[in-house]
Amino acid sequence: MAARIIGTGSYVPDRIITNDDLAEMVETSDAWIVERTGIHSRRITETGTTDMAVRAARNAMENAGLPPEELELIIVGTSTGDCLFPNTACEVQAALGAEKAVCFDLSAACSGFLFSLNTAKVYLESGAYRTALVVGADTLSKTVDWSDRSTCILFGDGAGAAVLESSAAEQSLWNRGVGDFIMGSDGSRGECLACRSTELCSPFLGEKKTSGFMTMNGQEVFRFAVKTVPRSIEEVLKKAGVTPDEIKYFILHQANERIIASVAKRMKQDSAKFPMNLAQYGNTSGASIPVLLDEINRKGLLKQGDKLIISGFGAGLTWGATLVVW
Ligand code: UT7
Repeated sequence: MAARIIGTGSYVPDRIITNDDLAEMVETSDAWIVERTGIHSRRITETGTTDMAVRAARNAMENAGLPPEELELIIVGTSTGDCLFPNTACEVQAALGAEKAVCFDLSAACSGFLFSLNTAKVYLESGAYRTALVVGADTLSKTVDWSDRSTCILFGDGAGAAVLESSAAEQSLWNRGVGDFIMGSDGSRGECLACRSTELCSPFLGEKKTSGFMTMNGQEVFRFAVKTVPRSIEEVLKKAGVTPDEIKYFILHQANERIIASVAKRMKQDSAKFPMNLAQYGNTSGASIPVLLDEINRKGLLKQGDKLIISGFGAGLTWGATLVVW
């Protein structure tokens, strides 16, 4: 069995916040943000994670031509759902009318879509389910302290989605599908990017705690990314027996232009093979990879048999890379 992507979709909110807008809120400048990150603007939601996830999911289902009643699995990679429960995937299910689907969220921060994609692949290849919708959706705007210039300039909101179907063909490099992947986690380094927003709260505690904002050691995350991302890509290429030159596009988590440039250099690959949209959207966490994948797909840049690397990293710490044969 092979698990193949048969449709993609995405959604970003209409409201644009530019670097100049932020310079009116914190001590920063457009020049500093562009030079250190490559980001020019970001989108901010007024409706939330579920609404964005549903819109991206609808686009992907339409693109795939799959009726909702045929969906058997929905996984939403998010760490910023609107509710603690029900999960976002159940809300997406209700909005789509995908009554048959089993639904759960997967929390792996910016690696959320990648981890969800690999999870769906394993379910589909096992024969447990025949079709799956994988969504990456995040509202980082509610987790950042908008008076902290070291974090608030980086993030934006959005959602992206992919529809997968299992096919009877054996998975091999010559077949289309989600191929080899590697994933990793290092909980001992969780503090360098964290958001303790759900604090203990009950009448049995002396002190009432308030919700916290995201905290980040930017330089540590940067060093982690430039080391781990190329290493994980090299590992998955080796596992699949594919060379970097055979890859058409490296679709990386859109965190920082300098991180992406460093990975391209280390892989000795032309930077044109590393598409980016972070200039317009900033870092949209779990949404960044599927939004970019959808953009490339809708531009008609993907042909059957093209090999792609999808690579993500984020809080946890978590990271991973997956080979996809389109
Ligand atoms: O999905 C993963 C999410 N996280 C990441 O991807 C974070 C990865 N890290 C980064 O992208 C970079 O570390 C940042 C963009 C966050 C920061 O860039 P940097 O080149 O590492 O800057 P820095 O933290 O070393 O700060 C350099 C200077 C400092 O001033 P001093 O101490 O040299 O006087 C900061 O206070 O820049 C200052 N600074 C700012 N200045 C203007 C920090 N943030 C800003 C700002 N505007 N927004």
